[in-house]
Amino acid sequence: MTTARLTIDPGFRVAPVRRRTFGSFVEHLGRCVYTGIHDPGHPTADADGFRGDVIELVRELGITTVRYPGGNFVSGYRWEDAVGPVDQRPARLDLAWHSTEPNTVGVDEFMRWAAKAGVEPMMAVNLGTRGVTEALDLLEYSNIAAGTAWSDLRRAHGTEAPHGIRMWCLGNEMDGPWQTGHKTPQEYGRLAAETGRAMRQVDPDLELVACGSSSSAMPTFGEWERVVLTEAYEQVDLISAHAYYWEEDGDLASFLGSAINMDHFIEDVVATADAVRAAGRHSKRIHISFDEWNVWYLDGAASKPPTDSWPVAPVLLEDNYSVADAVVVGNLLISLLRHSDRVHAASLAQLVNVIAPIMTEPGGRVWKQTTFHPFALTARHAVGEVLRVEVDSPSHPTAKHGDTPLVDAVATYDDASGALAVFAVNRSLTQSVPVEIDVRALDGVRLVEAVSLAHDDPYARSSVEDDTTLVPRPNTSAAVEGSRVRIELPPVSWSMVRLCR
Ligand code: AHR
Repeated sequence: MTTARLTIDPGFRVAPVRRRTFGSFVEHLGRCVYTGIHDPGHPTADADGFRGDVIELVRELGITTVRYPGGNFVSGYRWEDAVGPVDQRPARLDLAWHSTEPNTVGVDEFMRWAAKAGVEPMMAVNLGTRGVTEALDLLEYSNIAAGTAWSDLRRAHGTEAPHGIRMWCLGNEMDGPWQTGHKTPQEYGRLAAETGRAMRQVDPDLELVACGSSSSAMPTFGEWERVVLTEAYEQVDLISAHAYYWEEDGDLASFLGSAINMDHFIEDVVATADAVRAAGRHSKRIHISFDEWNVWYLDGAASKPPTDSWPVAPVLLEDNYSVADAVVVGNLLISLLRHSDRVHAASLAQLVNVIAPIMTEPGGRVWKQTTFHPFALTARHAVGEVLRVEVDSPSHPTAKHGDTPLVDAVATYDDASGALAVFAVNRSLTQSVPVEIDVRALDGVRLVEAVSLAHDDPYARSSVEDDTTLVPRPNTSAAVEGSRVRIELPPVSWSMVRLCR
């Protein structure tokens, strides 16, 4: 196998590593909230009913922001149902997931959970069935200190200090015909502009996210962003992007190249936003909030909500991830990092039980999926500046992406500590790839650690019984030789090499 060559230079700076790249998402969907983060009967539950063992793993995963409460759920949500005495809260139909929402957890509980988990909230407002007034009401309830009807109600409910939520999503996937209150880009763009304008009259420093496309395969992709931003450019800071990947028709090679699709998606949204900027003579730039991304087996077990009943917290979208899935997740994170100049926030969808890295048994064990590991290690060791890596890699043909480089990589470098981290994948199904990393611009680096996540069976999966076998293991092939680092990347693998100056 031909050697792949990576060239790394601290001069190839993209942008600072943005901590918000390592966000996630908690939706009132399936068992994400109920029996996921919230399980009052669990032995580790706190006074609010939040599981301590889950919070511990959220911290270990390195999650920085959490989007809440949806998702499709938010487009029919009445936030005020879920505040005040729990026993007086109404249960409601959740049309998005054909479930019953008991409203036991609402904004005040979620904010207490976020504080315990050490994450920043990213709150979504309902622009499906609702509009400007209800968004303003939630903002006033959440962020005004005292002296108004909604802020005093929050205080009467026992939350004296305002929540101070800075990041707000103006609706969810409003381009999707499945969305309750789905809109045309003109309709949504106007509503987003007016909601954003009003919210900023309350607080000009809010960071607002307009809905972009729910996938780059949407027929409206591109035109949606153009129209929405033409309407709302000055009222928002970010536009969202959502992408889910899965292996179709047994085509593992194409699936492993999913990050190529994400690269193009990001670059197309950037181009569209910048075209609107030019046409509208705007001075600021719009950035991307990639606030839903993951592997999702759309036809997997429990992939569809029930149609003949309205259960509370049914098992939904509980995909069990393989080693190959973890490699793709690690690669998608590489793509997000290398676009850190324009991707200013991202959310792995979702956090617990629902297409998630963390799984729970109701009242029982918590365990890690394979996808937990590349995310946790990247979140922990990507520090300082993101460096563009010059990759010269052997390639193979794939049905979806044409000639596809086998190796993909990104690096981060922290001037202060001299820590260099390289994150890389090998997408070959069968071959190890020898890699030579040229670090001549970083004199005298030494190897701190090299690990790889791989397995003879790329479809091997962790389970509640065993979540410690499929984990990154030391890659003993790594060695520094002068100004080069050599390492052998196993087939279908994700790796991290840590060096220090
Ligand atoms: O994350 C699951 C669902 O995927 C979300 O509710 C929705 O926004 C997207 O379609």
